[in-house]
Amino acid sequence: DLGPYRHFMQKEIHEQPRAIADTLEGALQGPFSLQDLWGQDARERLAHVERVLFLASGTSHYASLVGRQWVETIAGIPAHAELGHEYRYRDSIPNPNQLIVTLSQSGETLDTWEALRRAKDLGHEETLSICNVAESAIPRASALRFITRAGPEIGVASTKAFTTQLVALYLLALSLAILRGRLDDVSLAQHLEHLRELPGGVQQALNLEPQIQLWAQRFADKDHALFLGRGLHYPIALEGALKLKEISYIHAEAYPAGELKHGPLALVDQHMPVVVIAPNDRLLEKLAANMQEVRARGGELYVFADLDSHFEAAAGIHVIRLPRHAGLLSPVLHAIPVQLLAYHAALVKGTDVDRPRNLAKAVTVE
Ligand code: F6R
Repeated sequence: DLGPYRHFMQKEIHEQPRAIADTLEGALQGPFSLQDLWGQDARERLAHVERVLFLASGTSHYASLVGRQWVETIAGIPAHAELGHEYRYRDSIPNPNQLIVTLSQSGETLDTWEALRRAKDLGHEETLSICNVAESAIPRASALRFITRAGPEIGVASTKAFTTQLVALYLLALSLAILRGRLDDVSLAQHLEHLRELPGGVQQALNLEPQIQLWAQRFADKDHALFLGRGLHYPIALEGALKLKEISYIHAEAYPAGELKHGPLALVDQHMPVVVIAPNDRLLEKLAANMQEVRARGGELYVFADLDSHFEAAAGIHVIRLPRHAGLLSPVLHAIPVQLLAYHAALVKGTDVDRPRNLAKAVTVE
């Protein structure tokens, strides 16, 4: 049932405050319990983890690129993220203290499932799955599991599954930090407070839709777009480029902004729109310098900034401000406008938003 929406993708984008709140329910009501979050023997299985390897595909892989950074920052544990289809065919060094974390909306993606099998064949016993479908293959084959509560995702382009995966990953980073003795009760309470504020922040980001719609009209006649971000927001740039490609068929590439001068800057001219994910974090000044490089070549900038940032709109620089800076959780808020941009660009182009050509919702073939 679409209710007031035109497409499932639009409905699912707008369901995110609810989806995130539901996913957080188990962590925010009552004491923070590792067993309730991850399963029976979570404490024993997670206690000796000294390295984390995330395995996933597509959008779920981009979520893990954020999660990897949270695990290192919050829990102080080395963490890596790899595409399942790459991991399964390469030689790798098993480590019994490595936690294998698979992420999958559907729980049926063959590439991810086979990667999990490969990890187990290599002797890894500590496996954890973050999945949106409880009765699916990947969580069933994992020792520990967290089921996100996004509800059924019908649009082929993943939206609410992505942001709820991010929430689960943040809870994982907190859980590992607790086990390592890196998080006292006061700090944990602060993190949980920030999580509690997340659905409201996401709703405020959704309210920017009319402004983003205007931007989308300018995108629809472009053939190419660049997305830039740094640090925690580079994966959001990747996700924005993937969404735009998938449903509007506009060729889009994402780069960590520091990489521009190593090649992609050659592509920039007045025909190249450049979307910048520019929250108020410690990389902002570096990012501003990268934006100058784009402007100097005539590239038009579309900047997603935060409310209290110093960016001003000017000739060739368009700015939309998110409600506030959400600290480490900022990628969750900044995911929303890039979803909306892709959705509205696709509407202008008249594509089949919920069923883009050549794609399937669950990829159960190799
Ligand atoms: C992009 C998208 C795909 C999936 C990928 C993995 O919008 O939906 O990239 O993220 O096929 O699917 P799951 O998460 O079901 O394993």
